Amino acid sequence: MRRAAARDPHVPRRRGPDERPRPRRRRSRLGRQAVVYQVYPRSFADSDGDGLGDLPGITSRVPHLAALGVDAVWLSPFYPSALADGGYDVDDHRDVDPRIGTLAQFDDLVAALHAHGIRVVVDIVPNHSSDRHRWFREALAAGPGSPERARYVFRRGLGADGERPPSDWRAVFGGPAWEPVGDGDWYLHLFAPEQPDWNWDHPEVREDFLTTLRFWSDRGVDGFRIDVAHALTKDLSEPLPTQAELDAGTLVDGRHPYEDRDAVHEVYRAWRAVFEEYDPPRTAVAEAWVPAHRRARYASPEGLGQAFNFDLLMDDPDAGQFRRTVEENLALARESGTSSTWVLSNHDVVRHATRYALPAGTDLQAWLLRGGTDPAPDVERGLRLARAATALVLALPGSTYLYQGEELGLPEVADLDAADLQDPTWVRSQGTEKGRDGCRVPLPWSASGPALGFGDGSPHLPQPAWFADYAVERQEGEATSTLALYRRAIALRARLQSPETLEWADDVPAGVVQFRRPGGWTSVTNLGTSPVPLPAGRVVLSSGPQTEDQLALLTELPGETTAWLVTPST
Ligand code: NOJ
Repeated sequence: MRRAAARDPHVPRRRGPDERPRPRRRRSRLGRQAVVYQVYPRSFADSDGDGLGDLPGITSRVPHLAALGVDAVWLSPFYPSALADGGYDVDDHRDVDPRIGTLAQFDDLVAALHAHGIRVVVDIVPNHSSDRHRWFREALAAGPGSPERARYVFRRGLGADGERPPSDWRAVFGGPAWEPVGDGDWYLHLFAPEQPDWNWDHPEVREDFLTTLRFWSDRGVDGFRIDVAHALTKDLSEPLPTQAELDAGTLVDGRHPYEDRDAVHEVYRAWRAVFEEYDPPRTAVAEAWVPAHRRARYASPEGLGQAFNFDLLMDDPDAGQFRRTVEENLALARESGTSSTWVLSNHDVVRHATRYALPAGTDLQAWLLRGGTDPAPDVERGLRLARAATALVLALPGSTYLYQGEELGLPEVADLDAADLQDPTWVRSQGTEKGRDGCRVPLPWSASGPALGFGDGSPHLPQPAWFADYAVERQEGEATSTLALYRRAIALRARLQSPETLEWADDVPAGVVQFRRPGGWTSVTNLGTSPVPLPAGRVVLSSGPQTEDQLALLTELPGETTAWLVTPST
């Protein structure tokens, strides 16, 4: 049953068709400098003991999110799905997977988050559906040349009977990107075979996504995270380039057949018109894997409004790399008239506490294949650097995206058994890449009990015994825990937040990244291992020594540590 959005006073309303636009738009409450927390619903909290996280589970943990102080929660897909790709294979974009909940429970979650002033962002997956989507099943049944097939990217195979794929393209998860359907036609799937690509030249596909955006906006959703935002529109005119030609990297700046084509921005202009139907306008952030100079178009105010910048994910914890990445991205944000985004972890990458525990340059997939032991991670150092990097990022202008569990300092689970792996990468790469399950293991809420408080059933990915050391319960009362650090940093950030600029300090020791935000807020990160002098000011936060007494006594900044200082004017 659908709840009337109007009953929740926090749900912004949609303008009626005959209402004239207001002369002055209210700014979106998601803001340009939000802290957004990503929930991977199947691994957050399980209320019914089936081993799979669910919406009531998330609702029961809203107090954790409120205590953390985040401005918004981004929910990875919770739609009906066979889980061929962790829910990014969507059967029906306007429903909830019955194992995860109901639409009414979704409304309850939105109301609970809104009651704490936390905005809600949902994932939109527009490049592909699942192969169980009604339209894809109709397409298979209807046969070659049918209008039903025109909604997807079907092609006649090569050879007399269409027995060979239309091109030698490889899918992102491995294996061929074309799948035969047995009648001479093949369909394109840039990801898993269970994820057929939509045909974005088809007006019904375009219209259907506008309906989806309005469906969730009407239910009180404040914003959208757009999956693979760069891949929707395609030019598959013959002759198709070969995979080697694609790999050569010369088909850039809109010339690639399926990546980052200029026409995709027409789609987002239409979406922008939908966002502006609401007051405040809905927001969006693009997951666009494009070169930095092409990112601004996705992030522009006429487009999606914000785009993920994954550059920090790629950086080593190195002062030069961090500073360069920040400088470049702040310049790009200025250029596009939007705010920057910062990401250290998400559901697709090895957690940053583990990346930093390994020597720079470690091939992470090869390391995972070896069970995460060779080289042995320096867990303490990884956590120390992760905390320092997070504190640095939280001091930057723009929006910060946090991934569930990083507030606990969770490392990657690197030794999952092959039999437990769910990521299609494992099978599609024929066991040469383990994939992303190690960062998707269900959260430890308590230090003991079934599934460490995740739920009463056996969790869909097994938790290692050492997860108990990181449990929320254990960190709650500990003044020096990573959870306490995140809470303090997010609360202070809200108080110290200032215009989106910074001033670099250049005269600093090697390995130090130091900048000052307007209003007298200084962040200094020492990525070296020896202590360095602290700049002037009162230390209000440190990613190392953490208690008030420790902060008051700090005279120098230890290695691999960030501190925030305020000067008397603040
Ligand atoms: C990006 C998502 O973050 C990832 O998890 C997913 O596998 C692909 N897009 C395909 O939807």
